[in-house]
Amino acid sequence: MVTFSNKHTNISSKKMESQQKKILKLHDKLIMGEIDSPSLTSWIDWPESNVIPAFDNIEGILENWKNKGVKKLIMIGIGGSYLGGKAMLDFLKLDSALNPDILFAGNDLSSSKMIEISDFIKNEEYAIVMTSKSGKTLEPSLSFEYFVDKLKQQKPTNYAERVLVITEKDSLLDNAATAAGYLKSEFIDGIGGRFSGLTPLGLIPAMFKGVNYKDIIIGAKKANKDLISDPVNASAYKYATTRYLLSKKLTTEFFIAYESENLTLLDWLMQLFGESEGKEGKGLIPSKLYFTQDLHSMGQLLQEGKKTFFETTIWVKEALELKVPSTVKDHLKINYLSDRTLNSVNHSAMCGTIEAHWESGNVPNLIIEIDNNSPETIGYLYQWFFWAVTMSALLLGVDPFNQPGVEKYKENMSRNLNK
Ligand code: PA5
Repeated sequence: MVTFSNKHTNISSKKMESQQKKILKLHDKLIMGEIDSPSLTSWIDWPESNVIPAFDNIEGILENWKNKGVKKLIMIGIGGSYLGGKAMLDFLKLDSALNPDILFAGNDLSSSKMIEISDFIKNEEYAIVMTSKSGKTLEPSLSFEYFVDKLKQQKPTNYAERVLVITEKDSLLDNAATAAGYLKSEFIDGIGGRFSGLTPLGLIPAMFKGVNYKDIIIGAKKANKDLISDPVNASAYKYATTRYLLSKKLTTEFFIAYESENLTLLDWLMQLFGESEGKEGKGLIPSKLYFTQDLHSMGQLLQEGKKTFFETTIWVKEALELKVPSTVKDHLKINYLSDRTLNSVNHSAMCGTIEAHWESGNVPNLIIEIDNNSPETIGYLYQWFFWAVTMSALLLGVDPFNQPGVEKYKENMSRNLNK
C-alpha cells in the first residue's frame, strides 16, 4: 500500500543495516512505554481499540444534523486539531473548492477570512465543530465565539444543538460547553494533537461527506500489522533511518507532491515532523514543494544552489483519468503525447526531475509511493507516518510527543495581550 525507496541517495544497505540494532531497541522501548512521554502513545493501539462508541456518537450527531437540513460545517481548530482533518478531506477529493461544504476556521487570526466565511454561510443551514485538546488556544477560541454568535442570531432558540465541542475533560472549553448545553465528544485520551488524525476529530470532515470511518481504520490496522510483524524491515522505519542518516549532513527535507489534492498532506507532514523533532537544537526543517509548478520557481535553486537539503516525493500511482488533448494542426507540437494520460506525463516529469536533481545535482531523493487516494490508503498512510516520525525523533534523542516551543509562543502571546 505504501512503499519507500532510498535508491536515489548515497546511503548504502550496509549503512542502513548498521542502524538495525538501535532501531529494534528503540522500537521495544516505545512499545514497552520506556520513553519520555509514555502517556502519549495511545495512537499505537487506537485502530485496534474499541473505536465504535466514539464514532457511533459522531455518526449519530452528523445524521441528526443532516435530518435537520444542515448542509455546511464550520470546523474550528488549529495545528493538530485542524490539519489531520483538512489533509484527509483534500486527499480523498471530497469537497468542492468553489462551493465547499466544509469550511475551516480558527487556524489563524485573519479578519478577512473570518468575514469571508461568515458571509459565505450567512444564508446556509450549518453546524459548528470546535476542536481543541487544551480547550484554551486563542485562535480557535476567538473564532468559536464569533461563529457561535452568528449561529445564535440565525437560530436563537436551538443553536446549541448545532454546536459540537471536542476537547479534554474539564478544560475551560469543556466546562463552557456543559454550561451552554452544546453537544460534546471527548478528545481521545493519550493521543496528542498532531497524532489525532485518525480519531473522530480528524475523521469528521470525511464522515460528513459520506465516508465510512471503518474503511479508514482498516487501513490504519494494516499499517500496524505490517510494522509490528517485522519492525526491522518496515518501510516506515527505513524512511526514518534514511532521514536520520541524511540529517547528519543536511538541514532540510522538502516534501513534494505532484497532484493538488495531496498538498494539504504536505502541510500535515510539516507539522508532524516539525513539532515532533524540532527540539534541543535538533531536527530537520520540513518544507514543501508543489511540482511541476515550483520547478519553475525553485527548480534552479534545487538543481544548482547550496546543497543543504534532500527531497521526499509523495507519489500516488492512480490519478483521475485525463487524456492529453490533440489538435488537427498541432501548432504547439504536443500531438506526440496524444495517446497518453496527463498522469503519465506527470510521472515522466517526476522521473526526469529525480534524475536531474540526484544524478546531476547530487540532491538525495526519497520516494514514498502510494497506490491511490482511497479511505483505506489514507488510514494506512497516517499510521505509517506516525510510526516513522516517532522512530525518527527517537533516533535523534528527542521526545516525539511534546511541543514546549509551541507552548512558549502561546504563553508570550497571552502575556502581551494582557499587558
Ligand atoms: O500537535 C499539537 O499538539 C499542537 O499542534 C496542537 O494541536 C495545537 O497547538 C492546538 O492545540 P489545541 O488542540 O490544544 O487547541
